Amino acid sequence: MSTELNTQSQTKSTSPIKRMCVVYHSAYGHTARVAQAIVDGANQVENIDANLISVEHMDHYKWEVLDQADVLVFGSPTYMGSVTGQFKLFMDATSSRWINRSWSGKLAAGFANSGGLSGDKLAALQQVCLFAMQHGMVWSGLPLMSQGHETTDLNRLASFLGLMTQSDNLPVAQTPPSGDIETAHWFGRHLAQLAQRM
Ligand SMILES: Cc1cc2nc3c(=O)[nH]c(=O)nc-3n(C[C@H](O)[C@H](O)[C@H](O)COP(=O)(O)O)c2cc1C
Repeated sequence: MSTELNTQSQTKSTSPIKRMCVVYHSAYGHTARVAQAIVDGANQVENIDANLISVEHMDHYKWEVLDQADVLVFGSPTYMGSVTGQFKLFMDATSSRWINRSWSGKLAAGFANSGGLSGDKLAALQQVCLFAMQHGMVWSGLPLMSQGHETTDLNRLASFLGLMTQSDNLPVAQTPPSGDIETAHWFGRHLAQLAQRM
C-alpha cells in the first residue's frame, strides 16, 4: 500500500518522531517502486514517519511536508545522463528555500534508476548530491559493500554516493530486481537509524 502523504504521525513510543520524505519522479513506476522500498525500510525503524512525495503536482501541502521533514531523500529516473525534466523543475522550484537556507542542516540522500547497468546514472546522482549541498544539507551515501553483481545481490551496482537501481522494459512487478529493492529497503532503514542518531 502506498504511503504517499500519510503524514499523520503515528506515535510508536514517547521519543520524538523523525520525519522522512522520499521525493521522487517516476514516469513508468520503476523509480516509484524503489522510492516505496526506501519508505518501507525506514518505517521499520521506531519513531520514524516516512512518506512518499511525487514531484508532480506540487502544492502548498506537499511543500509544507518537505519543510517539516528531518530527512529528504531525492530520486529520479536517468534521462540522457541527467535527472528528468520534471525532477529539475522541482529542484528549480526550491529556489526560495535555497536563498533563505530553509533546508540547511537536514539529512539528505539520493537514488537514481536507469535502463542501463551504468546508463550514466552516476551523473544524475551527483546532480542530486550537489543540489543537496547547495541547500546546505548533510549528505549520506550508501555505506553498504557490494555483495556481488547478480540481480539478487545487495548493492549489485556497487554505488556508494547513493542508491543505484536498474530496471528493464518490463512490468514494475518484475523489475528492478529483488536485490535492488532489498538494497533500497536497507538504505531506508540505514537513513532512518542515522536520523535517530542526529
Ligand atoms: C527520454 C529518456 C531518456 C533516457 N535516458 C537514459 C539514459 O541516459 N540512461 C539509461 O540507462 N536509461 C535511460 N532511459 C531509461 C530510463 O532511465 C528508465 O526507463 C527509467 O529509469 C524508468 O524509470 P520509471 O519507470 O520510474 O520512469 C531513458 C528513458 C527516456 C524516456
